[in-house]
Amino acid sequence: MKTILLTGGAGFLGSHACLNLLEAGYGIYIVDSLENSSFESISRVCRFLKEKNNFFQNKIKFFKADIRNIEKLKIIFEHALSNDNKIHAVIHFAGLKAVSESEENPIKYWEYNVLGSINLFKVMEEYGCKNIVFSSSAAVYGQNQKCPIEEVSSLSPSNVYGKTKKTVEEILTDLHFRKKWGVAILRYFNPVGAHHSGIIGENPISNKNNLFPIICEVAKNNNKKLLIYGSDWPTRDGTCLRDYIHIEDIIEGHKNALNLLLNSGKNLIKVNLGTGKGTSVLELITTFEKVNDIKIEYEFSGRRLGDCAALFADNRLSSSLINWRPRKTLEDVCKDGWKWVLENPYGYIKNLEELDLSNYCEI
Ligand SMILES: NC(=O)c1ccc[n+]([C@@H]2O[C@H](COP(=O)([O-])OP(=O)(O)OC[C@H]3O[C@@H](n4cnc5c(N)ncnc54)[C@H](O)[C@@H]3O)[C@@H](O)[C@H]2O)c1
Repeated sequence: MKTILLTGGAGFLGSHACLNLLEAGYGIYIVDSLENSSFESISRVCRFLKEKNNFFQNKIKFFKADIRNIEKLKIIFEHALSNDNKIHAVIHFAGLKAVSESEENPIKYWEYNVLGSINLFKVMEEYGCKNIVFSSSAAVYGQNQKCPIEEVSSLSPSNVYGKTKKTVEEILTDLHFRKKWGVAILRYFNPVGAHHSGIIGENPISNKNNLFPIICEVAKNNNKKLLIYGSDWPTRDGTCLRDYIHIEDIIEGHKNALNLLLNSGKNLIKVNLGTGKGTSVLELITTFEKVNDIKIEYEFSGRRLGDCAALFADNRLSSSLINWRPRKTLEDVCKDGWKWVLENPYGYIKNLEELDLSNYCEI
């Protein structure tokens, strides 16, 4: 059994990865400070797998710790060794992701996203762990790119968040060439939706500025209206085009990249994870309304500073490099995302004391 460390494993992407990789037979270690998530996500994953008789208590260990603290990271790698195990690879999700906050508080973003990553890489090096899948973002490309955006496009991030991601990409590229690390850099476009079971999804506090969670919020509170920023963009219906990709597809991409690193040695992969299609704001709203039989009230306001007409991926490279193609549709995104919100209108709500803590450890 190979053991994978998920940093930020209790978050939106991390919890879905945890479920997927446990189902695939991996052993999972998680480190998460829980500052933008809840241990309830992991506790639900364990319960879900138990109910399917597909769960072994010793296959998962959760550590509440901050990756900015290097000594705590060492304890985790040491723990794996003392259990006759070692961490074979890391999927590095931990970080902060709010673009507007990154502009207001750059030091915080450099500290969490870059310093935290450097700590992690130091400890990986010390313990001989040389395989990593990194959560990067379409934000590394910047705003004024020709769409669909290819991986070879110039990287010119227009905000602090994107700059921190680009910097970590550069460090990892050096580690690949100078230290023979296996590195998969995955540039996500707009991960949305939720696990089809409805047991895990995006915590409503975590993504207040993204369109899909706002649509769900408006659907939940029928007195609210959605503001659409601009009706005069040079697109087919005047609203912005973005690339909405189902969270389960995104996570499949991680599994494929991970398998490639573990099986074939020292690759350097830099790929987009997107559908390859731009969906307009109005198209997303209409699909959500149709699939869920709900009316979304909206009105137009002016364009937002720093926005751009279109941002969507060229996703052909992921197909040849990691054998990945998205399988879910925009309808699946709308159905699964709404199911999660309907069944969990307040997201994760349990206190730690109410949860099964047998896999939980605070260091
Ligand atoms: N969700 C998106 O739209 C999106 C798009 C592109 C890239 N990404 C990147 O993907 C990764 C995961 O995103 P997500 O949507 O799951 O976010 P999330 O906030 O749900 O998950 C991140 C997790 O990291 C944890 N964390 C943050 N700082 C930490 C630290 N210093 N030490 C330990 N844990 C820490 C948080 O508590 C949280 O559980 C992030 O790096 C993000 O930048 C996300």
